[in-house]
Amino acid sequence: MKRLMTAATAVVLVAGLTACGGDGGDAETVAGGSGDTITMGFAQVGAESGWRTANTDSIKASAEEAGVDLKFSDAQQKQENQIKAIRSYIQQKVDVIAFSPVVETGWDTVLLEAKRAKIPVILTDRSVDSEDDSLYATFLGSDFVEEGEKAGQWLVDNAAESDANGDGTINVVELQGTTGAAPAIDRKEGFADVISSDDTIEVTASQTGDFTRDGGKKVMEAFLAADDSIDVVYAHNDDMGLGAIEAIEAAGLTPGTDIKIITVDAVKDGMTALAEGKISFIVECNPLLGPQLMDLAEKVVNGEEVPKRVVTEETTFTQEQAKEVLADRQY
Ligand code: AHR
Repeated sequence: MKRLMTAATAVVLVAGLTACGGDGGDAETVAGGSGDTITMGFAQVGAESGWRTANTDSIKASAEEAGVDLKFSDAQQKQENQIKAIRSYIQQKVDVIAFSPVVETGWDTVLLEAKRAKIPVILTDRSVDSEDDSLYATFLGSDFVEEGEKAGQWLVDNAAESDANGDGTINVVELQGTTGAAPAIDRKEGFADVISSDDTIEVTASQTGDFTRDGGKKVMEAFLAADDSIDVVYAHNDDMGLGAIEAIEAAGLTPGTDIKIITVDAVKDGMTALAEGKISFIVECNPLLGPQLMDLAEKVVNGEEVPKRVVTEETTFTQEQAKEVLADRQY
């Protein structure tokens, strides 16, 4: 039966915690409903960053507004938990599965199981590295390579000002996202491509901080202990950049002056640090994917054609721009 998301089905109830997929991470049912309501199983990466929290809030609020019965699980940054959650959604015969793959590879088997069960899959935020694109209906999310390019372009354009010790070379340390995750791979690649045009810029160290504030702080402490000539931090997300700020300040240095920081995301905490001059430039990555996801889900479940790739529109922020928009920032 053709399922419709109407105003009538938009009245949903929070149904509390319920088991989903054994030990496949934290699971809950967010909205209740039956009949012609669409049931979506969503396997979230985790709660590793401010971006992720905003993304989860957007998905839950949009499901409620659209009258989608959302089964939500938090994989705590573990691929095996996401796979268990997806298998559980297949067993529960949900109408559509959506997930943000923690890493790029290793999904073909479980996606094939969903395909055989005739349950469409929507990738959100992050994509998979698979040769078979029939395993998913569509991918909604950012262009992470472009985000890395924008970060690199700012540094190329501001190379002279970023050479804190004035020795003619700009020593960059990189805080990578989760190893094997699409945004970590692509943001590294985009940045490296653009800065290769300027041979005064060199990435002297690059290590994962797992997209967390604590991870960024610990890795930055180690970088500072090993090298006193760091000019720039390129962090693959705001949270790691904020952790780096803590480490830089604890080392008696001034972020934004002694060491410039470039990040990706533009969540409220990052934008606050940008407005305060501690971060120098932020590339936006939009977490508010919920409304588009619900729209795509309705179409996919109803058998309508959807584009294979839906790219999120994003901008960048300087310190001046952050001051202007900070008060109205939603997340
Ligand atoms: O996949 C999007 C990335 O994941 C965000 O940039 C980061 O903050 C999050 O953890």
